[in-house]
Amino acid sequence: MYKIAVLPGDGTGPEVVREGLKVLDAVGESAGFKLDYTHYDLGGERYKRTGEVLPDSVVDELRQFDAIYLGAIGHPDVKPGILEKGLLLRLRFELDQYINLRPVKLYPGVETPLKDKGPEHVDFVVVRENTEGQYAGAGGFLRKGTPDEIAVQESICTRKGVDRCLRYAYQYAMKRNKDKKLTLCGKTNVLTYAFDLWERAFHEIGEKEFPEITRDYAHVDATVMWMVKNPEWFDVIVTENMFGDIITDLGAMIQGGMGIAAGGNINPEGVSMFEPIGGSAPKYTGQNVVNPLAAIGAAAMMLDTIGEADAAARVEKSIMTVCESHIKSLAAGRMGYNTQEVGDLVVKNL
Ligand code: IPM
Ligand code: MN
Repeated sequence: MYKIAVLPGDGTGPEVVREGLKVLDAVGESAGFKLDYTHYDLGGERYKRTGEVLPDSVVDELRQFDAIYLGAIGHPDVKPGILEKGLLLRLRFELDQYINLRPVKLYPGVETPLKDKGPEHVDFVVVRENTEGQYAGAGGFLRKGTPDEIAVQESICTRKGVDRCLRYAYQYAMKRNKDKKLTLCGKTNVLTYAFDLWERAFHEIGEKEFPEITRDYAHVDATVMWMVKNPEWFDVIVTENMFGDIITDLGAMIQGGMGIAAGGNINPEGVSMFEPIGGSAPKYTGQNVVNPLAAIGAAAMMLDTIGEADAAARVEKSIMTVCESHIKSLAAGRMGYNTQEVGDLVVKNL
């Protein structure tokens, strides 16, 4: 029995989470394991009702679970930053989910905007550092409100934080066993403090502990160019928090869109949290039209992390079948099926 905390969240989050749970139950039943869900009502609606974003008691309760399954955070009536920082980022930080793992994989039958590229070209993983950089929130205003105002937004990179992220990325490249290549995505030509540290740590750890892995470096601007031009160049990319945020939205687009992109906020020694990376898509709320495959993919990643790798592989395979043989487009409203029917198709093809 696995204990899963479920945070359906805002907008279309609850609709896609429902499909994810349906698939989890089905695969669990056939593989002989059970998942026990505890739902938490967190997000924009609760905040509007009670002013609460994330009670301390809930953070402590969440530590007791095997994993957390999250729908989406973000509400059109709530000022940007309140829920993002107060809920999503706070959970990542407090649960020390220091890795944001985002696979970028184009499934057969899925349309990509890249010219002349197919599934054999788009198959890499981004390991995004998830607790530091500009997201650490260091900075402030000087002379706020005056014509001489200065806003400072600092990026914090600690050697320990960088080392643990790099080790995870190297281990992932070993385990993945594809090209055995790790690309550090940085900006050593401008961010000469942050990426000096990253680069030194990258080579020291690689040389000493992972000599089998080929080390590669690309500036972030070149990385996005290569992602479009030659995505087959990449196996595993490791990068700092903000760059990882930005390049994984491009990653989502080249793998077919937000409807399919899943990610995990991972604490390898603690509780991890899995989510579709696309957001709450409020304009589609309640219409049963958004694509649940990203949420279902996140559920598969969750299974893998809690130790049910076979079940995870079955779910991923079923998603591939559904993409290839059934749905027309990954875009909301254009799938040829509604949200629930796509979930049913995944269950049927398990
Ligand atoms: C993501 C999101 C978040 C981030 C936002 C909602 C705070 O864009 O998970 O990529 O920037 O990390
Ligand atoms: Mn993002």
